[in-house]
Amino acid sequence: MRERRLITLTGVGGVGKSRLALRAVADARQARPDGVWWVELSPLRDPGLLTATVAHAVGLADHSPRPLDEELCAWMADKKLLLVLDTCEHLVAECRHLVGELLQSSPGLTVLITSREPLGCAVEQVVDVRPLPCEGPDSDALALFRARALAATPQAAAVFADPGRTAVAVEVCRRLDGIPLALELAGARLRLWTLEQMAERMGERFAVLSDARAALPRRHQTMRTTIGWSHELCEPLERLLWARLSVFTGDFDIAAARAVCAGGPLSAARVERVLAGLAAKSVVLRTDERGADTRYRLLDTIREYGQDWLGELGEVQIVTDRHAHWYAALAQAADRGWMGPGQVDWYRRITAEHAQLRTALEHLLTADPTAAMEMAGALWFYWFACGHGHEGRAFLERALRAAPRTGAAHNQALWALGLTALQQGDMDRAQRLAEECTRDAARLADPSGSCARPTWNRCRSSCPATRCGP
Ligand SMILES: Nc1ncnc2c1ncn2[C@@H]1O[C@H](COP(=O)(O)OP(=O)(O)OP(=O)(O)O)[C@@H](O)[C@H]1O
Ligand SMILES: [Mg+2]
Repeated sequence: MRERRLITLTGVGGVGKSRLALRAVADARQARPDGVWWVELSPLRDPGLLTATVAHAVGLADHSPRPLDEELCAWMADKKLLLVLDTCEHLVAECRHLVGELLQSSPGLTVLITSREPLGCAVEQVVDVRPLPCEGPDSDALALFRARALAATPQAAAVFADPGRTAVAVEVCRRLDGIPLALELAGARLRLWTLEQMAERMGERFAVLSDARAALPRRHQTMRTTIGWSHELCEPLERLLWARLSVFTGDFDIAAARAVCAGGPLSAARVERVLAGLAAKSVVLRTDERGADTRYRLLDTIREYGQDWLGELGEVQIVTDRHAHWYAALAQAADRGWMGPGQVDWYRRITAEHAQLRTALEHLLTADPTAAMEMAGALWFYWFACGHGHEGRAFLERALRAAPRTGAAHNQALWALGLTALQQGDMDRAQRLAEECTRDAARLADPSGSCARPTWNRCRSSCPATRCGP
């Protein structure tokens, strides 16, 4: 990274691309005067929000009507910084385009990418991340397997004290092709199985699958097989929860997991215990441990498997709906709480849920446009006051186009759109929206209900946006 301007770490899911990138940027020699910025793209579904996501990650406040990529290029032009785009394989073309523009306008910029496939830029240096060496008792693969096994159960110490059993463990690592995620899942499994049971079961399963999936590259096959095998070893409720958790993008908290994933045989009261079971098997990671605020996430490869399974169960629609309505309700609660002593907490909470809110809005835009409009309008403060003007404007415009043009929710969405236009200095549009908003409010059965909302009243005394409402 000291010599090249664009490096892409490629390799199969779970091979350690993100971890290697983290390690590389932690090296003090990679420091840049204007910082090292990490942009996590795996939760991003809408390619249209790539620039907004990068701009937000680097702390660029989004307050101008200029196209955001121009803003970003101008902002970076004189900076010396390292930008990491983690997980780009679902946005290859968009990343190629944005990175090309940024590199051209910012001579001091270095970009590090992780992706299962290269971007295909002329200046790109591709580094294929290889699995861990797995031959012999001193291999890195065995060291990782051993560490995970010991973390799962102290009894694993006996395995590695015995040269004969160590040889079996080496064989297990070899079967797993030294892929770190596969080794982690297998290591965690020693809590329930002896090493020998594992080796035996693994042999059977891998033999069957290597015939069935001959078309897949070998390492992909190994990873899929390992995950499928981990999946079979889960209890039925754990499998169900794994599938349902796959609707989350990015990390989530226990309350959301309970609300979205309970149903049928899995009661809300059991979700936490089943989630703990998945965490113990390394299927779910705890990202931030703070008691009730603990957040969880699934690695991409594991989430993808869950998504396939959710499809098999025929539950995609219902669980995606529940996810969307949970976050829509959260947006409404935040709207009610924003103008009050809890504002900072709401700011933190909504910021932490940004990826989930996007996913929910995207889904509602097609599944329930009225709910999308209500949600986008409720998030007015997030678009307007928390630096997401471009994104908010785009969501509000789409929702207003898709939903019926009546009622208080429509009025609030118009008002929110007016705020974003005003904030971007787009005065003509703000004026037209204000007029439309005023006319619509007058037609509502209870115009005071929408115009004299508590938010509005308190906002009115202190905020320039007053001018844009009825
Ligand atoms: N060298 C290593 N030593 C120990 N653990 C590792 C190593 N490399 C990867 N891991 C672990 O393996 C798991 C998968 O790694 P990581 O998430 O970096 O894979 P990835 O290639 O980015 O996968 P994806 O394509 O799904 O994003 C993680 O839990 C990570 O901590
Ligand atoms: Mg990764």
